[in-house]
Amino acid sequence: MLQISPSILSADFANLESELARIATADWAHVDVMDGHFVPNLTLGLPVVEALKRVSPIPLDCHLMIEDPDRWAPQYAEAGGSSVTFHIEAAKDPVATARAIRAAGARAAFAVKPGTPFAPYADLLREVDMVLVMTVEPGFGGQSFMADQMAKVSEVREAVRRHGGEIWIQVDGGVSQDTIGQCVEAGADVFVAGSAVYGADDVPTRIDQLRALAAE
Ligand code: DX5
Ligand code: ZN
Repeated sequence: MLQISPSILSADFANLESELARIATADWAHVDVMDGHFVPNLTLGLPVVEALKRVSPIPLDCHLMIEDPDRWAPQYAEAGGSSVTFHIEAAKDPVATARAIRAAGARAAFAVKPGTPFAPYADLLREVDMVLVMTVEPGFGGQSFMADQMAKVSEVREAVRRHGGEIWIQVDGGVSQDTIGQCVEAGADVFVAGSAVYGADDVPTRIDQLRALAAE
């Protein structure tokens, strides 16, 4: 199933409850957790995720751009993340981390940065519910979509097909009305969009539009 996960990184941080209400028709609320170390930007942490969980009309899709996810990722599941994605570049024991996320009741996923190949991690498919292929360098919203990552999306899609089961493929970064079609074509099925959603005059209409374009 094709799913839309608007990123609240582009929302008004002074009004997160109402900003979540604006994306109530989306499938997930994408929450970008940045620690100022793994990426050169700092956003929010566990207490804010707990607060978002209390008021969000839709499940939270936590994208952890942090060091030491082995230690922290399960806590994001306990704090209310229904899906928790950690970066493979930062994980020391990705199998244990994915298992701990699942044990805490959330869907587990790993992310690969644009410069990180997928193939060395193909065996991890048995431990996760989703793979996130970054289509920008993580750290900031509003960057240009990297079309050269579509080959990696196709590679993951083929690996998922061989593996069997229902593992989702998410793309994140520069996804918009102009680029979502290529992502679908390559095999992605969960679409993160920050500036394309919150930059729209009418947010629910933009979500509908992205969904319709994905389904084309
Ligand atoms: C970037 C974040 C993205 C970001 C996407 O590091 O992971 O989720 O919010 O923003 P846009 O859609 O504006 O590229
Ligand atoms: Zn993200």
